[in-house]
Amino acid sequence: MSVAEEFWESFYAARERVWSGRPNAVLVDVAGPLTPGTALDLGCAEGGDAIWLAGRGWTVTGADVSATALDRARAHAAEAGVQVDVQRHDLTRSLPDGVFDLVSACFLQSPIEFPRARVLQAAARAVAPGGLLLVVEHGSPPSWAGAHGNLVFPTPAEALASLDLAPEEWTTERCDAPERAMTGPNGEVGTITDIVLAVRRRAD
Ligand SMILES: C[S@@+](CC[C@H](N)C(=O)[O-])C[C@H]1O[C@@H](n2cnc3c(N)ncnc32)[C@H](O)[C@@H]1O
Repeated sequence: MSVAEEFWESFYAARERVWSGRPNAVLVDVAGPLTPGTALDLGCAEGGDAIWLAGRGWTVTGADVSATALDRARAHAAEAGVQVDVQRHDLTRSLPDGVFDLVSACFLQSPIEFPRARVLQAAARAVAPGGLLLVVEHGSPPSWAGAHGNLVFPTPAEALASLDLAPEEWTTERCDAPERAMTGPNGEVGTITDIVLAVRRRAD
């Protein structure tokens, strides 16, 4: 078992259900207008995003390192009456085979060591010609959380640069940091910033 698998498997096994099941707002915003095709959801967890995409006609593959999370994704997909091909991968070692019209990595982040740039560069290689890579990550702590020690967040431009994409092959459609409302565990009303990168691979 890899360190990532050990960490995330015990994270999910210790809790009943972690995520709301609702899709990420940025994914809805970005993928909502797209014509459905094939999609790969990296770090799909319990399936919220993958199930939303499948419900809109996408042929979806979801990948995560935790078998428990994937069992839940499978069960939630069945409840929703959609099909999602869920595959267990430690994404630092392997990705699902093939190329996809949409590759989404929403909050593919980890408190343990995670070679994020390398994994996202592999994710970019899984984008089909003409397809879109969507990366969403935290751009700030929640406003109600106070100082977060030495935690440093990249700017959108820094996050984009870390993907090291060849400019002649990719067009940047989004590289920004929208703010959204976020309620804290004790009902605190506040905001949080997301970094959003949407880059399209040249069609030929
Ligand atoms: C913060 S959660 C985000 C889940 C979901 N994408 C979302 O936006 O709600 C990160 C997810 O990435 C997965 N993950 C972390 N490291 C991974 C790795 N090395 N390989 C595969 N999945 C990983 C975790 O199991 C977890 O489900």
